[in-house]
Amino acid sequence: MSNPTLRIGLAGLGRLGRRYAENLARTVPRASLDAVCSPVDEEVAWARDTLGVSRHYSDYRAMLADPALDAVFLVTPTSLHAEQIEQALDAGKHVFCEKPLSLDLATCLHTVEHAKRYPQLRAMVGFVRHFDASYRDAKARIEAGGIGRPFMVYSQTADKLDPTGAFVKFAPTSGGLFLDCSVHDIDLARWLLGRPAVKRVYAIGTAAMYPELEPIGDIDNGAAVCEFVDGSMAMFYASRTQAHGHDTHTDIIGTAGKLSVGRNPRADRVEIADAYGVRSLSVPSFFERFEEAFQAQCVHFIDAVLDNKPFDLTLEDAAEATRIAVALRESRQSGKPIDL
Ligand SMILES: NC(=O)c1ccc[n+]([C@@H]2O[C@H](COP(=O)([O-])OP(=O)(O)OC[C@H]3O[C@@H](n4cnc5c(N)ncnc54)[C@H](O)[C@@H]3O)[C@@H](O)[C@H]2O)c1
Repeated sequence: MSNPTLRIGLAGLGRLGRRYAENLARTVPRASLDAVCSPVDEEVAWARDTLGVSRHYSDYRAMLADPALDAVFLVTPTSLHAEQIEQALDAGKHVFCEKPLSLDLATCLHTVEHAKRYPQLRAMVGFVRHFDASYRDAKARIEAGGIGRPFMVYSQTADKLDPTGAFVKFAPTSGGLFLDCSVHDIDLARWLLGRPAVKRVYAIGTAAMYPELEPIGDIDNGAAVCEFVDGSMAMFYASRTQAHGHDTHTDIIGTAGKLSVGRNPRADRVEIADAYGVRSLSVPSFFERFEEAFQAQCVHFIDAVLDNKPFDLTLEDAAEATRIAVALRESRQSGKPIDL
């Protein structure tokens, strides 16, 4: 008999961590959110007062020493992910971590190796789009031969413009546009094309609205192409400056057809006809678009751990996504294609 619930400690209660906390405390079956950790007192107080979480830590290592936790969820800044995964495994905890694994390939590979020391423990880096119903449907259709042999993916991650420019502050620690945003599309392209090995990449970009990104080596709009050794291809577009909303979509083209996921980013099924024409409102952010997928991702992790089933994603996949994203950034900065 498997355990009825997974006893979880969550580290990171920021923009996304709060959403995880709500999901784990309220809606995800077989999850028991027993502890939270954040260096910010107000964040911990929020989890206590709003969700009734009983155990609180300001220090991550102290939470890891809690013997009544089976697993940790990491929704902490990206720069901490790899080390915190390794520390969780050393402490005997299963670990789920938000993307990306690390901004640096050598660090990713170190964590991949470290995890091999603990075959009894499970570690996964979440790429939420794998758990979106439409992407899963597309994957199933591809596997059933619905579009013949897939050979081309176009995928974009395009955020609605935040007129406060808050992302500029975050830019120096984000790894840049390709590592922060295109890493999702890279992971999707590999998954949907059957994980071919990458051969060569080339990327360009511009600071179309935020020139202050240039001195720190970043951009607000970028485009890239990626060749795989089996002849398949991918194109990526990433943006932080869309006027209309969060516009994330993917096309998969095969020898016998094409699948498009999320092409119209409309928020709902309402069509407004008025003096401005006929239109729909757009999804405002990644969270509204992928709200259900974030829950499904938690369910996937918890079921896999409790029922000893495989994850859809491996740590090696996460390392490969970082490897390709770093190459895109280097290509954009050098102006040259990069052979991998
Ligand atoms: N999958 C997606 O679409 C998606 C979207 C947004 C963010 N993310 C990822 O989620 C992660 C968090 O992003 P965010 O926007 O919520 O960031 P955030 O800055 O809003 O939150 C970070 C949280 O970590 C806490 N923290 C900092 N140091 C800590 C430590 N040592 N121990 C424990 N907690 C610590 C902070 O107090 C804060 O609560 C990032 O890695 C980001 O890439 C993924």
